[in-house]
Amino acid sequence: MTTYDSSIKEIIYSEEEIKSRVAAIGKQISEDYKGEELVVVGVLRGSIVFMADLIRSIDLPVILDTVALSSYYNGTESTGKVKINKDLESSITDKNVLIVEDIADRGITLTFLIEMLQVRKAKSIKICTLLNKPSRRTMEVKLDYIGFDIEDHFVVGYGLDFAQKYRNYPHIGILKEEMYKE
Ligand code: IMP
Ligand code: MG
Repeated sequence: MTTYDSSIKEIIYSEEEIKSRVAAIGKQISEDYKGEELVVVGVLRGSIVFMADLIRSIDLPVILDTVALSSYYNGTESTGKVKINKDLESSITDKNVLIVEDIADRGITLTFLIEMLQVRKAKSIKICTLLNKPSRRTMEVKLDYIGFDIEDHFVVGYGLDFAQKYRNYPHIGILKEEMYKE
């Protein structure tokens, strides 16, 4: 038992399942960019755990950078506005950029980020997301690498939070509704 177990309704992907999926994605990325250099841009803070594992399964020269964006939230619902809290530290002009995100939900964060990076004239821009909730999409966005497609549940763990907690839960689980609904 761990501290968080009583708040989790169901584990949908265990630590072991995530590990093997992440290794497979890393292998695919290594093949797709063979002979190239890659700038991995992690979206803070949700992608930290995924990014840490993913980069170690990528067999290429990798430069790591991060951005912090926030969509304004009312509880578990994003309002649609995005703000830059921390910009990249390196130039991405003429670089292959791989955006690493925890989850593609409405698509608002990723659409905003793609536009922000396109302006800086990257050589290529691709997206790798651990989770994808296709049924929630309001803005169309091309996802190049997807860990798992999931149903419309609010999930936590492996980097994903609810009110900044659960990021250190090693599995991906559905949060019990009573944790966020009055
Ligand atoms: P989007 O801009 O609506 O696609 O929202 C993406 C962001 O919302 C993600 O980067 C997460 O931070 C957050 N988010 C969306 N769904 C979930 C969830 O089920 N659990 C935790 N965070 C989520
Ligand atoms: Mg996020």
